[in-house]
Amino acid sequence: MAQKVSLTRYLVEQQRVDGSIPAQLRLLLEVVARACKSISMAVNKGALGGVLGSAESENVQGEVQKKLDIISNEVLIEANEWGGHLAAMASEEMDSIHLVPSRYPQGEYLLLFDPLDGSSNIDVNVSIGTIFSVLKKPDDHPGVQEADFLQAGAKQVAAGYCVYGPSTTLVLTVGDGVAMFTLDREQGSFVLTQENVQIPADTKEFAINMSNMRHWDAPVKRYVDECLAGKDGPRGKDFNMRWIASMVADVHRILTRGGIFMYPWDKREPEKAGKLRLMYEANPMAWLVEQAGGAATNGRQRILDLQPAKLHERVAVFLGSKNEVERVTGYHSGA
Ligand code: AHG
Ligand code: MN
Ligand code: MN
Repeated sequence: MAQKVSLTRYLVEQQRVDGSIPAQLRLLLEVVARACKSISMAVNKGALGGVLGSAESENVQGEVQKKLDIISNEVLIEANEWGGHLAAMASEEMDSIHLVPSRYPQGEYLLLFDPLDGSSNIDVNVSIGTIFSVLKKPDDHPGVQEADFLQAGAKQVAAGYCVYGPSTTLVLTVGDGVAMFTLDREQGSFVLTQENVQIPADTKEFAINMSNMRHWDAPVKRYVDECLAGKDGPRGKDFNMRWIASMVADVHRILTRGGIFMYPWDKREPEKAGKLRLMYEANPMAWLVEQAGGAATNGRQRILDLQPAKLHERVAVFLGSKNEVERVTGYHSGA
């Protein structure tokens, strides 16, 4: 029987063979994986663990926080504070950046995360997840400021997510393709289950919250109308639709069998560029998708090229199978 490759072994070999992971980054990824394991256990206990329901507080984005949003945020902070690999963290659930306390050694990396993605699905026992992104702290000054985090997604040195579904799966890139690891609960470790993940360039499956249709811009309406017209329409084929309302789960399906995911700008809150967050959701997912041969844009530009102006910035998102993302992006420029 083929030997199982644990996440630890995979990372050690990447460090040794490709030299693509410095030791501190390897440690960071192991710590994030450990935190995800612990969040997975909490999710798994559900009502028995008293983790369901609202925390009755609001985050900086004005969203009501669930208990698990807060628990997951705390797990990630506590796990990452003391290892010496980080300088600071930023989270969807915290107003401002979290510096590593001065009693611990300071590292050279910055960690950003959406501790619990898909919050509306927690209480209904549907897949949710954690999304993370790693940047290097600029080394031209001592200390850390919020401005140090404002780097384009193309500067990420690692990105990934963990989906808490029927099984718990960690998906990772360090810029050398995408690998998937499944949590072996008996052993308590993540085991490599797929390497070189590839998204097919074409698809017959789209994901968008259709209830917002009347608020969309013309290019998005055109794209979806053409999908809905099926075989008899300009696309000449029937499309299927999925919308889990957990970006992690929707992106996981796309990395597994292709598809396009869209959360466009819409007229409900015209002053916001979109619903999803550039730094915690769009950037890490865009890099994973590109590393798997797909594409990711905001309708006009490549997401990874966007220069963030603020930490909690929002963005429109079109990502997944390359030809479909290029098509809907083309519609935005009048093609
Ligand atoms: P979060 O739970 O971190 O706030 O993110 C939820 C996001 C994303 O996961 C999902 O794709 C989208 O919101 C769902 O939005 P709708 O409820 O508007 O469909
Ligand atoms: Mn989210
Ligand atoms: Mn969240």
